[in-house]
Amino acid sequence: RARNLTFKLVLLGDGRVGKTSLVLRYVNNVFSEKQETTVQASYLTKRLVIGGVPITLSIWDTAGQERFHALGPIYYRDADGMYLINTTALLVYDITDSDTFLRVRKWVKELQQMASKDIVMVIAANKSDLIRSKKYDIQEAESYATTIGAKLFLTSAKFGTGINDVFLDIAARLLQK
Ligand code: GTP
Repeated sequence: RARNLTFKLVLLGDGRVGKTSLVLRYVNNVFSEKQETTVQASYLTKRLVIGGVPITLSIWDTAGQERFHALGPIYYRDADGMYLINTTALLVYDITDSDTFLRVRKWVKELQQMASKDIVMVIAANKSDLIRSKKYDIQEAESYATTIGAKLFLTSAKFGTGINDVFLDIAARLLQK
């Protein structure tokens, strides 16, 4: 296999859960309290070396808000017109808002229908820095993740915690395929 490996990663999740913030923290190590809503989709790349193998992640950050979903299918399509083949999904929700977890479950259903069966899915339970300000139950989310063969990571784009772990797990699982 060629050693210049590029993998496509798409972030999915409800509006305001922190998708853009996670990517910007990971790629540029910045965070803004006033991160603006993504209207279409944006794209960033990150190079990393894992187990001595250099890889490139091409990261697609999508618009979470329902009102932008009219623009939707574009995000699923790649150059061949195939849906999410060889694509990894990073599903993001906000631990202080259980509705956003339901949205993750909806995405998973959609992905299971449209994407290849062995699609890599990872869940980020974001805004862990707010854990004290609200009750939350991550156990339900963790057992759900297990049932769909995904790993769940607690992240905070604000504090930068858990984020490297998410992307390292994704990269490691992609390399095993
Ligand atoms: P859409 O573009 O609407 O899909 O939103 P998004 O999911 O990309 O969320 P975005 O990164 O724009 O963040 C939404 C808001 O949440 C912003 O005000 C961020 O500053 C805030 N935010 C994002 N991540 C965190 C986090 O880990 N902790 C806290 N406290 N706030 C966060």
